[in-house]
Amino acid sequence: MTLVRVQTVMSNEIAKRLFITRPPEPPHEFLLNDPTNSIFVGTTKVFKVPFTWTFSQLTNPHVSVVGITGAGKSFFVKTFLTRASYVWNTNAIIIDWAGEYLAWVKQSGGTTISFSKGDYLNLMDLSGMKPLDRVKQIMNSLDILTDIADYPEQRRLTEEAIEQAYLNAGFILASLPPPGKEPPTLKDVTFLLDEKLTEGTYQYPAELENTIYRLRQFSREGEDYFANKSTVDIGKLASSGLVDLDLSSLPDERFRAMAALFILQTLKEKMRAEGWSATAGIRTFVVLDEAWKIASDERSDAVTIIREGRKYQFGLIVASQNPTDVNEAIFSNVGTTFMLRIRFEKFMNYLQGSLNFSDYIRSEISKLGVGQAAVDMAFNTSVRFPNVFMINKIVGELPIDTYLISMLKVLSQQELDDPSVQKDYSFDKMSLSSKLIDSGIGSDTITKLLAKLGDQGNSADISDLVNMLLHDGISRDSIVRLMRSIGLRDTTIAKVFAYAGSLEKG
Ligand SMILES: Nc1ncnc2c1ncn2[C@@H]1O[C@H](COP(=O)(O)OP(=O)(O)OP(=O)(O)O)[C@@H](O)[C@H]1O
Ligand SMILES: [Mg+2]
Repeated sequence: MTLVRVQTVMSNEIAKRLFITRPPEPPHEFLLNDPTNSIFVGTTKVFKVPFTWTFSQLTNPHVSVVGITGAGKSFFVKTFLTRASYVWNTNAIIIDWAGEYLAWVKQSGGTTISFSKGDYLNLMDLSGMKPLDRVKQIMNSLDILTDIADYPEQRRLTEEAIEQAYLNAGFILASLPPPGKEPPTLKDVTFLLDEKLTEGTYQYPAELENTIYRLRQFSREGEDYFANKSTVDIGKLASSGLVDLDLSSLPDERFRAMAALFILQTLKEKMRAEGWSATAGIRTFVVLDEAWKIASDERSDAVTIIREGRKYQFGLIVASQNPTDVNEAIFSNVGTTFMLRIRFEKFMNYLQGSLNFSDYIRSEISKLGVGQAAVDMAFNTSVRFPNVFMINKIVGELPIDTYLISMLKVLSQQELDDPSVQKDYSFDKMSLSSKLIDSGIGSDTITKLLAKLGDQGNSADISDLVNMLLHDGISRDSIVRLMRSIGLRDTTIAKVFAYAGSLEKG
């Protein structure tokens, strides 16, 4: 009997043998770049190649990061920015919705700016722009954030008053502003409208009143963050190392979005004015983390930066829990997408549909743990290998205070055996504290809870924590809110309560 038999195989049969024609990862010359000119991210899963990121072979330098809460998006962004700064001296501006980056930026010696604590942005700053162009941008922001577009008369009154305020301050609408000339503020604009109302000659006083009311929201005493002389020069910040613009203490989403749009508009102008530079690498990364209102609207300048950024070496990093919140024009145009742990099928379907990866990759993504990722890269030449590959873990500088909350006691054996079920959640001190605060838990209890975690090597089972909170008189509502913010599903939350209750009785 012979052990080896020669088979006749048709070539189309060979083509079906995927392992021959389709390697599981891009070849190493696409992954392993010159370390002095690229950013190390982590090691690939199959061939254990150290993956270093550069955009030289990609369609553009923009990056999107998606994954559920706690998956490691912000951790990745911090690691990435730190290394970009080492390698290319890259500046970074973080438009920080939730104040998530504040502590890290302070610790890294960067600049932090918190509006509401005496820092102002004058929405009418020109940053070298013609007043007419700035008026268009302000109107664009109002169109995105309010329903003013539905009220053409109010829109017209606002636009005219803004133009008049520039004229009164001595600017010529269609000319570049003379250097050093102080621009007017929204307070001047409302003043002009008020005057018009007092004159009493305007035909539609109700329209005028509504126009004033709209603008006053941004110029009222105490909430006039955008209606005073600027205390920060956004244009300069684009070349000031690491900068955190903390929007978390602005009163609401509208204010945060207004600030973010203004910042993007100014950065875009700055980018265009500086033009191309001969240096390698990225000059400035602009980070939008969970800023869905800004990332989802195609009129926002996030889209302009995506379209034009490459030629100016400006990169945009968009991080989101929900990929469908990111505008199609952004999502389908970024050069690199980092997919961390994804839970919802509809997000997975969306990602698979737009990035076109295999079911094998899909199942790998559903099993990811904290910090593990799939990477999609859009190469600028056509390639004969898959665009998506897995990396073991994003390798970062280890966080100082990390707390691990384990689900082991609560999960059933079947869930414990299921690789797609998350067994523990890790948080740094800042993010755990802010989740506790946001759930309405008092500071005494928070101190106790962190101390308890500290006694146990910074880890605890969720049911023990819930017991402790119940003992301390914290309401079930607050505890539910906390567990939801950690990322637990309602069915799991019910189990945690049942388990904690049984401990109580036993
Ligand atoms: N690659 C990693 N290596 C080690 N620790 C990590 C890694 N990624 C994340 N972590 C830790 O996991 C926790 C959650 O990460 P992170 O805050 O980045 O999540 P996130 O995706 O930004 O969540 P959210 O959507 O709630 O902001 C943090 O304590 C972080 O330090
Ligand atoms: Mg985050």
